[in-house]
Amino acid sequence: PYAAEVDSVLGLMTLEEKIGQTVLFTSGWDVTGPSMDDNYKEYLENGSVGAVFNAFTTKYNRELQKIAVEHTRLGIPLLFGYDVIHGHRTIFPIPLGESASWDLELMEKTARIAAVEASAEGINWTFAPMVDIARDARWGRIAEGAGEDTYLGSLIARARVKGFQGDDLSADNTILACAKHYAAYGAALSGRDYNTVDMSENELRTTYLPPFKAALDAGVATFMNSFNDLNGVPATGNNFLLRNILKGDWKFNGFVVTDYTSMNEMVAHGYARDDKHAGEIAMNAGVDMDMQGGIYMKYLKKSIEEGKVSETDLDDAVRRILEMKFRLGLFDDPYRYMDETREKEEVLNKEHLAVARDAARKSMVLLKNDNEVLPLSSDSKVALIGPLVKDEKNIIGNWAAAGDRGGTAVSVFEAFEERLGTDNFLYAEGCKVLGEDISGFKEAVSAAGKADVVVMVVGELEGMTGEAASRTDINIPGRQKQLIEAIKETGKPVVLVLMNGRPLTLEWENETADAILEAWWPGTMGGHAIADVLYGDYNPSGKLTVSFPRAVGQLPLFYNHKNTGRPIKPEDPDQKYVSRYLYTPNTPLYPFGYGLSYTTFAYDVVTDKKSLTPGDTLTITAKVTNTGERDGEETVQLYVHDKVASITPPVKELKRFRKIFLRKGESKNVTFSLSAEDLKFYNQDLEWVYEPGAFEFFVGGSSDLPFTHTFELAEK
Ligand code: IFM
Repeated sequence: PYAAEVDSVLGLMTLEEKIGQTVLFTSGWDVTGPSMDDNYKEYLENGSVGAVFNAFTTKYNRELQKIAVEHTRLGIPLLFGYDVIHGHRTIFPIPLGESASWDLELMEKTARIAAVEASAEGINWTFAPMVDIARDARWGRIAEGAGEDTYLGSLIARARVKGFQGDDLSADNTILACAKHYAAYGAALSGRDYNTVDMSENELRTTYLPPFKAALDAGVATFMNSFNDLNGVPATGNNFLLRNILKGDWKFNGFVVTDYTSMNEMVAHGYARDDKHAGEIAMNAGVDMDMQGGIYMKYLKKSIEEGKVSETDLDDAVRRILEMKFRLGLFDDPYRYMDETREKEEVLNKEHLAVARDAARKSMVLLKNDNEVLPLSSDSKVALIGPLVKDEKNIIGNWAAAGDRGGTAVSVFEAFEERLGTDNFLYAEGCKVLGEDISGFKEAVSAAGKADVVVMVVGELEGMTGEAASRTDINIPGRQKQLIEAIKETGKPVVLVLMNGRPLTLEWENETADAILEAWWPGTMGGHAIADVLYGDYNPSGKLTVSFPRAVGQLPLFYNHKNTGRPIKPEDPDQKYVSRYLYTPNTPLYPFGYGLSYTTFAYDVVTDKKSLTPGDTLTITAKVTNTGERDGEETVQLYVHDKVASITPPVKELKRFRKIFLRKGESKNVTFSLSAEDLKFYNQDLEWVYEPGAFEFFVGGSSDLPFTHTFELAEK
C-alpha cells in the first residue's frame, strides 16, 4: 500500500544507504541493561544499519532510534526485532505446550498480549511464530513449534500471526511477525540442530510448507531462513524456496531475513567460496536482510559494482523493508513503540497474568491417572518432592528472553504456600536435575513417609531444549528416576508433574507413577496453574500435539505416517519380516491427540450420506456426552484415511477438531463438514488433486482409535 511513499524515499537513497537498510545487528545486554557495541553505534550514525535486534526498553530503544532519525542523512527509522516467542515479560507456556490446548483463540490472545507488552518496550518486530513441523523429539527446537501435525500447525500459525500483527499494523500495540524457519528445519537429520535436510518435493509441500503458507495468508510481514540445507542447497541461498515458491508462486510482499549468520554459514556448508560469494548467492536468491552476518554491509556494494548482483534486486529488498517501516507507522512517528506510560501500565499487568495462568492450565496434559489419585483432596497431606518444586528459573522455559526468572515467576512451592500455608505441606528437593548427588534422597523419603500423597516435580532444565539443545537420550535426566524409585518404595501414591520442552521417554515412569501431568514449561504463572490442575480447580483438557515415543530409537515418530508393504498385524505383534522393531512396539507410548480429563466422554457418530460427490459436502455429527462426575472440556477430533491413492496415503490424517465444554451429564452435537477439497493431496506430478474412492474415518478424543465409518468419494 505504500509503494509511492517507498519509491519517493528510495529515490533519495545512495547505494550505501540502500545497503544499510538490509543490515540487522544485535544489541548486547550488560549487567546494567541493554548495550551497544561501539562499532554498531558508529554504523547507526552512518546509516549503515536498518534494524537492530535484542534491544528493548523504551528508554534504550529511544536512544538508538534518535541516532537513526536525527543523525543520519535521511533519518530513516530503525526496526527493532526481538525473540518474543511465548510472551514478552508475561511468559506463557512454551509454544509446544500451548499448542496442546488446541485453543486457537487462546493462542491468538497470548500472541496479542506478547505484542502489546513488546511494543510498549520499543519492539516492533518479533521473530515468531516458529511454524516448523517437528517429529523428532531429539531436536531441542521442537519446544518452539506447534508439534507434528501440518493441519493443526497451519491453524496455529495463522492464529499466532493474527495475534502479533492484529488487524492494523500501524496501531501502536501491534508488531511485525516472522514465519520461521523457512524451510524444513524441523526435519534436521537425526534431530541434530542445524543439520542437513533431504526430502522429496512432495513431502516438502505436503508436510512442511503449509504452515508457512498459512502464515503468509494471514498476512505475515516477514520470513526467516532456516539454517539447514535442503536437498543440497542451503535455505539461505535457496532460489527454489525463495524466488520460485515464496516470492513467485505465493507472491509474498514482505521481506526475508536470514537467521543469525546463516548467510556466512554457506561457506561452511561448502556452497559459497567465501563471505562475499555467500552474499551474492543470498541476494540473488531473494534474501532481503542480513542478520548479524555483516556480509551485505561489507561486500554488497562491490558485488553490485562487479555485476554479480543487480541493483534492481537490492532495490526490491529495500522496498520491502521500507514498506514495513511505513506500515508500522514509523515514518509518521519513529517513537510510537516507545511509550513509558504503556510500559508501566501494560507490562505484566493483572489481566496478562490471569491469561498466563489460564493458558498454562489449558496446556497441561494429564497422561495417566490411576485410581483417580488426581485431583488431590484438600484433606490429604502432600509432600512436594523434586528439583523443580522451587524452581522459578526454568519454569518460564527457553526463549523467554525478557521474562523474569525469579521474582515474578511463580514456582510450585510458592503456589502451594499461597494455597495451603507454609506449614501445611512437606517439601524436599531430593536431587538436582543433573548431577550424581543423591544425598538429598534420605530427607525426601522421610518427607514422603509423612505424607498421604507425593507430588514430584521433575524434568529437564530449560536449556536442554531450544536452539542448539538436541539430545540423544530423552529420558528424565540425572538421578531423578532413581529418586522416583526411592519415593515409590515408600508405598505412597506418586504423582509426577513434568516440566520439559520435548516428549520424553516415559515407559518406566508410566509403569511406576500413579499419575503423570505433563506441565511443559508453563510460564510466569506456572506454579499456580499446576496447583489449579492438581486440586481440580481446573479440569485438565490438554491433548498432545506430538507423539511421545517409548524409546528414542523410534524417532522420528508421528501419527500420520504411511503404511509399509509389511505392516504389523495387531493380532500377531511378534511376527518376523514385518516392519517393526525387535522388543519395542511401533506405537507411541502416548499418541498425538491424547490426553485424559478428570471426567470421561462418550461419542455417538452419524453421517448424512455414504457417498460424497465433488461440489457437495459430507456432514458428520458427533454427539459427545460427558459421562463422568465433573464438568470438563473435550477436543473432538476427526481423522480420515484415504484407502487407496496414486501416492501412498498416510494411515490417517487430522481433518477437523473442535474444543467444547460440557457440564457433567451434558451432551452436545459437534458437526463437521467435509468436501472433496479436504481430501486433496499432491500427486506424482505435484498437482493438488482429489481422487475418487473409499475413505474411512473416526471421531474421538485421540488419534489412536479405530475407524468406525466409511464413505466413497464419487466421480464427478
Ligand atoms: O530468531 C532466532 C532464531 O530462531 C535462531 N537464531 C537466532 C535468531 C535471533 O535471535
